[in-house]
Amino acid sequence: MTRQEHIDFHAIPIIDLAKAKTDPKQLPALARELFQACCESGFFYLVGHGISEDLQARLERVSHEFFAWDEHRKMQLKMELGGPAWRGYFPLGGELTSGKADAKEGLYLGTELDARDPRVQAGWPMHGPNLFPDIPDFRDTVLEYIHVVTALGHRVMELVSMSLALPPDYFYEHFTKDPLILFRIFHYPPDPDPEHSETWGVGEHTDYGLLTILKQDDCGGLEVKSKDRWIEAPPIPQAFVCNIGDMLERMTGGLYRSTPHRVRNRSGRERYSFPLFFDPGFSVPMRAIPQLEGLQTERYQRWDEADVHSFTGTYGDYLLTKVGRVFPDLKKTRAP
Ligand code: OGA
Ligand code: NI
Repeated sequence: MTRQEHIDFHAIPIIDLAKAKTDPKQLPALARELFQACCESGFFYLVGHGISEDLQARLERVSHEFFAWDEHRKMQLKMELGGPAWRGYFPLGGELTSGKADAKEGLYLGTELDARDPRVQAGWPMHGPNLFPDIPDFRDTVLEYIHVVTALGHRVMELVSMSLALPPDYFYEHFTKDPLILFRIFHYPPDPDPEHSETWGVGEHTDYGLLTILKQDDCGGLEVKSKDRWIEAPPIPQAFVCNIGDMLERMTGGLYRSTPHRVRNRSGRERYSFPLFFDPGFSVPMRAIPQLEGLQTERYQRWDEADVHSFTGTYGDYLLTKVGRVFPDLKKTRAP
């Protein structure tokens, strides 16, 4: 297959999972829609996903409560206290994208593992217990959300397998039996000078792993890079925004795109977002999928000039090199 270097797309397509649930005969058509979305923009809205609206409303409520705390109280959960598990709170300006401080604060969470878990015992970074604020229902709501959205991630990856003419359990069997799940809650204060300021909530970047499932509120501000312009990904009620990460691009030889995106909160309101990163297992070696080698595409120059395709090593190795740039202190922890 030959293709343009950078594809010019105009809008982000909507994938409706409910179609295939009511009528399994719709699956091949849905897989084709997904194939097109992943090749063109690397982004799609996901509707018909069945994640409870009540659960989402609870998640919003407890998150608003947390970010309304004063800075001193939030800092009692600072990331330094999470150690190598990489959990906890970082304040405004505490995270860098491409070397520049982002205009956001956030709480890093993930699959809850206690000290007896073998992965924690083995000293794997990014595995361990969460730091939960003392807010009624916070813990249960977050863990329930992570649980159901992780299950959704497995379902979407089944469809991704089918979209590549692979057996439905291909990704599960090879990469995501023990997925690395990182979940974040971000708060983007309103941009004080939306006309002139050059500050980004999150600067231009790509995501690292396989699939990001983002719940955004109704403020807007997420932008996705098309050929030579930025396309908005406006909020659609009850839809998640999904995008492909670097490692799915790597596994598909560049067929599926890990597309640059960025956020700027020009709404004048407080923006909250909830990305869940559904990623390969930490100790799983990254490689191109052999069945797709016939489909290998022309390589294009990535936004950051990185060559993800030549990366060899585990997903954990990849992640730690990236994380080292965002939070320099974490790099000191060791990979399995
Ligand atoms: C990210 C990201 C978008 C958002 O966390 O990688 O792109 O709306 N987030 O917060
Ligand atoms: Ni992102």
